[in-house]
Amino acid sequence: MTIAFYGFGGAAVAASLAKLKGRLQLSTGKHPSLAGHSRLARRMASLVRFYEYDDSRFFCADDAPDDVAKRRRNGFMGLSSLYKTRFAKTAALTDEAAGGISDLQFTAAYRVPFQFSRLVRTQLKAGAFVQSSAGVKVTDLDGNAFYDLTGSYGVNVLGYDFYKAAMARGLERVHALGPVLGPYHPVVADNVKRLRAISGLDEVSFHMSGTEAVMQAVRLARYHTRRSHLVRFCGAYHGWWGDVQPGIGNPLPAHETYTLKDMSEDSLRVLRSRNDIACVLVNPLQGLHPNANAPADSSLVDSARHAHYDKPAYTDWLKRLRAVCSERNIVLVFDEVFVGFRLARGGAQEYFGVRADLVTYGKTLGGGLPIGVVCGRKDLMRRFRDGRPADICFARGTFNSHPYVMATMNEFLRFIETEEAQALYRDLDGLWDERAQRLNARLREEGLPIEVANMSSIWTVCYTQPGRYNWMLQYYLRAAGLALSWVGSGRLIFSLNYTEADFAAVADRFLAAAKAMNGDGWFWRNSAMTNKSIKRTILKEMLAHRLLSVRRGQNGG
Ligand SMILES: Cc1ncc(COP(=O)(O)O)c(C=O)c1O
Repeated sequence: MTIAFYGFGGAAVAASLAKLKGRLQLSTGKHPSLAGHSRLARRMASLVRFYEYDDSRFFCADDAPDDVAKRRRNGFMGLSSLYKTRFAKTAALTDEAAGGISDLQFTAAYRVPFQFSRLVRTQLKAGAFVQSSAGVKVTDLDGNAFYDLTGSYGVNVLGYDFYKAAMARGLERVHALGPVLGPYHPVVADNVKRLRAISGLDEVSFHMSGTEAVMQAVRLARYHTRRSHLVRFCGAYHGWWGDVQPGIGNPLPAHETYTLKDMSEDSLRVLRSRNDIACVLVNPLQGLHPNANAPADSSLVDSARHAHYDKPAYTDWLKRLRAVCSERNIVLVFDEVFVGFRLARGGAQEYFGVRADLVTYGKTLGGGLPIGVVCGRKDLMRRFRDGRPADICFARGTFNSHPYVMATMNEFLRFIETEEAQALYRDLDGLWDERAQRLNARLREEGLPIEVANMSSIWTVCYTQPGRYNWMLQYYLRAAGLALSWVGSGRLIFSLNYTEADFAAVADRFLAAAKAMNGDGWFWRNSAMTNKSIKRTILKEMLAHRLLSVRRGQNGG
């Protein structure tokens, strides 16, 4: 009896210790930032109370002297009157429509740090409407042509004119069938053949968005491994499905998701030791900013944003990850929805020389129409089991394999086989790296505290000295005729049809905008100011407003 008791007790202690070891290992696999701690981030976010700077503090949140604040105010009002006249029609329709478009209300509210948001929203209205595109430009309702740096969220790899033509030709090719769903148009078979060749994988499934493709890849991995958890790397975006968005933005915790440190041996240790990991999701864009969230100007409270792309180091990491996944039978999923056909014709697998078990594609692959695709190994793509007829892995979608989408995709897939496309992809990184360096050299020569970092044609703007107003750059860039997406200077996406002349024009405008911003005093700084001191100041403000709201009896929750 006593022996049995001790034996049982010993086993229980050993099990607890093993569990504790697993927990500790998992903790070391997490990035120390809030992005690495989803639950804590959500909890902290719920504590933040709204406050804003009044009219005078707005221009001297960094305690700038009066003359600098005055220059900033004049610059701001000058920009405001330019926006009001130059973008009048576009802004009017945006105002009229915004009340009924939830997305617009969200993006309008999150273009700049919230303390500055209201005045910016009323004075510098970023119009949401455009009427046409041609070459590398888009034109708004007032007839202003902007160089397009939005890249349509990454869809625009080959230039808008290519997609217009692909859609026109594609629609014509499947016109006789029209929107018949269920049975396939023959073009589907050709797409499958081409996608198998490109991905080097056995089977293909079609979905309606990148988010759905990722959902399906993870579901398949869970089904075949009979394990529960997915691993994503800190900061990586994989669409807006709950399980891949465990932090701020998702009202529910994602219980079956581990968020691990990118490019870290600690994470490999977690993969080696746990038995509940079904798959690892990799968004190769993180090579540009490992462990950081997508850079949006709304979080540009200081100049801590950092990006640097080291291709050999990231390639080495992917290789090590590949080896551990193979060793542990963990499904390695490359989420190439963004970077897929942007980095190389054969996607990230070809570009990094690393093969995945499942690959998701989307965006540009639709040839201008919405798409999500999973390519995978035969054994992983199967949605049923021999011998267990009721144990299936379900996946449907009304519009999957829509004939129009399949036809425009076919236009895209055929084009990338052409000599013209091969030429576009040749030495792509060399071209875009050189362009980025050229712009950086000019920024340095002018003494402007700005530099760009890039992964091929995907760029982000960083700021080289501490400052509280870097988010203003997006408004100067727009005034200079550069169209940005709602994340502002956080992400500039070039299409590959940018000529030298187009790029030179963008660089000139970028420089003019940065100089104008500098002239208006936004880069003034007290030499004692650091990114840390800025963060401290903001934290104090937040605490003060939190206390105030509790004292006033507002929900302190
Ligand atoms: C890497 C990655 N995965 C998935 C998605 C989601 O794709 P979609 O917006 O088509 O749902 C995105 C979108 O930006 C993405 O960049």
